[in-house]
Amino acid sequence: MTASHPRTQPAATARPTEAERNAVMLRSITPEQLDAVMAIEQTAYSHPWSRGHFRDSLNSQFEAQGLWLGDELLGYFWAMRGFEEMHLLNITVAPARQGQGWGHMMLDALTLMSRHAGAQWLWLEVRQSNLRALQVYERYGFRQISIRKDYYPADRQQREHAVVMSLKL
Ligand SMILES: CC(C)(COP(=O)(O)OP(=O)(O)OC[C@H]1O[C@@H](n2cnc3c(N)ncnc32)[C@H](O)[C@@H]1OP(=O)(O)O)[C@@H](O)C(=O)NCCC(=O)NCCS
Repeated sequence: MTASHPRTQPAATARPTEAERNAVMLRSITPEQLDAVMAIEQTAYSHPWSRGHFRDSLNSQFEAQGLWLGDELLGYFWAMRGFEEMHLLNITVAPARQGQGWGHMMLDALTLMSRHAGAQWLWLEVRQSNLRALQVYERYGFRQISIRKDYYPADRQQREHAVVMSLKL
């Protein structure tokens, strides 16, 4: 995953209502929806993906799914298929919607899609300093596999290690 550490703390922790949980839809991201994606990406990370990066990833036929509540984009994930594995490249929930279970719901969706595609493993990288995401992944069942040194850009021209994690599907 090349996205960086989160820029903001979650603004709300109130659980969504059952009606909201039942109303959400997962839809493939289209080029027309990249404005909504960028609006979240730029508030969620200190080193966000660029629009070009998202566009190229769409053109590369990656799995790109958005979680929608009506016309509100709650979050999205980008993943790349490999041989018997799926690599999660970016998963992001809108800062105002973090901590409400939507990230977990997208991981559930990704897990199901990955199994359907024949994947045995789900892989991801996460910044070593992104303790919140590390905790979310560990609670979900991911295990730490290794460290990729100096994988991410950081402030003041520094680099930051990535933690490589995997989940057996
Ligand atoms: C990481 C992220 C995708 C998780 O999505 P989320 O919607 O906030 O997470 P959820 O509300 O679904 O929480 C998932 C689990 O983590 C727990 N959790 C949520 N917020 C937490 C927090 N601040 N501290 C500890 N645990 C937390 C939840 O209780 C839940 O556990 P459970 O399933 O056992 O109940 C989201 O926070 C995010 O977009 N962060 C900024 C971008 C980022 O860092 N992306 C990942 C890059 S690798």
